[in-house]
Amino acid sequence: MSKIRMARSSKRGIQHGTGKRQKSPRKREESVILYKGLPSQQFSFHTFSSEVEIETFQKRLLAWYNKCKRDLPWRKLATTEADADRRAYAVWVSEIMLQQTQVASVINYYNRWMLKWPTLQNLAGASLEEVNELWAGLGYYSRGKRLQEGARKIVSEMAGHMPRTAEELQKLLPGVGKYTAGAIASIAFGQVTGVVDGNVIRVLCRIRAIGADPTNSAVTDRLWALSHALVDPAHPGDFNQAMMELGATVCTPRAPLCTECPVRQHCRAHRRMEKELKDSTKRLIGRSASKCSQVLDVEECASPAGCCSLCLPPSELWDPSLGVTNFPRKTAKKQPRIENTATCVLQRRCHEDKPEYLIVQRPCTGLLAGLWEFPSILLCPGQEKQHKATMAKHLQAWVGSDVAVGRLQHVGEVLHIFSHIRQTYTIYFLNLDKHEGNCKMESALPLCRWVTKSEFQNSAVSTAMKKVLKAYEKWRSTISVSKVTKRKRDSLCASEPALEADRSSSKRQLSLDSFLAPQPKN
Ligand code: ADE
Repeated sequence: MSKIRMARSSKRGIQHGTGKRQKSPRKREESVILYKGLPSQQFSFHTFSSEVEIETFQKRLLAWYNKCKRDLPWRKLATTEADADRRAYAVWVSEIMLQQTQVASVINYYNRWMLKWPTLQNLAGASLEEVNELWAGLGYYSRGKRLQEGARKIVSEMAGHMPRTAEELQKLLPGVGKYTAGAIASIAFGQVTGVVDGNVIRVLCRIRAIGADPTNSAVTDRLWALSHALVDPAHPGDFNQAMMELGATVCTPRAPLCTECPVRQHCRAHRRMEKELKDSTKRLIGRSASKCSQVLDVEECASPAGCCSLCLPPSELWDPSLGVTNFPRKTAKKQPRIENTATCVLQRRCHEDKPEYLIVQRPCTGLLAGLWEFPSILLCPGQEKQHKATMAKHLQAWVGSDVAVGRLQHVGEVLHIFSHIRQTYTIYFLNLDKHEGNCKMESALPLCRWVTKSEFQNSAVSTAMKKVLKAYEKWRSTISVSKVTKRKRDSLCASEPALEADRSSSKRQLSLDSFLAPQPKN
């Protein structure tokens, strides 16, 4: 949209609505423009038939949102923070963290971030290492880096002021795409602009029975047009969040709670489900289904069957067992590529006999850029048999001398699924003796450091590496338990031979078995 509409909000220093909606002529004019892009017979079936219907939809959705919305920290800041830049920064951080990540996983990260860097200026002064440390475990690490780059840009090139419109936010800030720009502009600045994310796609596809592939760019354009046409001009930020909230809590992917949906009266998928149910009941009791269909014919797309670019395609017939979840249409996901990495927990005991582990920094570009990991090496396909030898050779650089293959102990495997990679880590363990684990290594190899367990946990390490450490600790504890058990058994047999005959005693057997039992997960 080229024209910028702002919600009428005095609190935010921009035009403010009275709560009672008054349609401006401009709003109506734009709605018509948006609808003009759609072929006439699709106008009412895959869009909305009238302004009145749109207004009712907005009213119902917002009433539900005001009553049922989750109490989320960024929502509080978006409504209580009077300073526009601070407010937009708070929304920006939340929107970046929420990309591809569930609300529940974000809350703690968000609170810690805002406590550490409450303003753009604070973030601009942070190091990338600090950002990665705080972000560790949240995934998609380039997001944190971009936020920090953006903050530096705003402070150094824009006098500390966030861009005020979706167009400018998208154009000027790294990592801010169309969705994020629309979300910040509508929530923080009251710009009347729609948003389309995964939740909104699901809601719109169901509400307007859009069964075409939502990843197709023409369909995406239609969804954006629909979201711009639907957004409430008096409360654009709340309306957009309400659409997302509906998708996240009611109109969920697999088990939607249609009976709790505030806009089910507007939902074509729901109507279709009811119609199909009615038809099949009629069929069961022997009455013609077509008579029943005639009553509900207005609920069908006017395009000839198979001709509409937004309907379910003929190859994807309505599946009665799926109900409203027939929409949106499932798209074939690209299979993740399979990778194998050998990694080694390299341990030394230098200071007060406390174990320390070597971690190495990854390159500053690519997957997990700049994060720290145990010395690791990506294995070529077909190299599986030589894992251990490859790892031993790789470790020479860190140990400073040859590592005999036989010294590496195999710990096990850990699987970690990144968005596009199915990564298996084959874990080895190498305990360095006093001479090998010398402290000079740090200066010889600048991109590595020795850390205690708690330093490891607070470093910028990925979730995959935390899993590796956990697997190692579990393996270690089973090894020590088997050693203790063996020693106990040996000593029992040696010093108390009478007990050998008492092996059937369930009590003793139990206590011995409990040593051997698998360790509970922590
Ligand atoms: N997902 C993305 N942005 C969101 C928001 N503001 N509230 C809830 N879920 C979201």
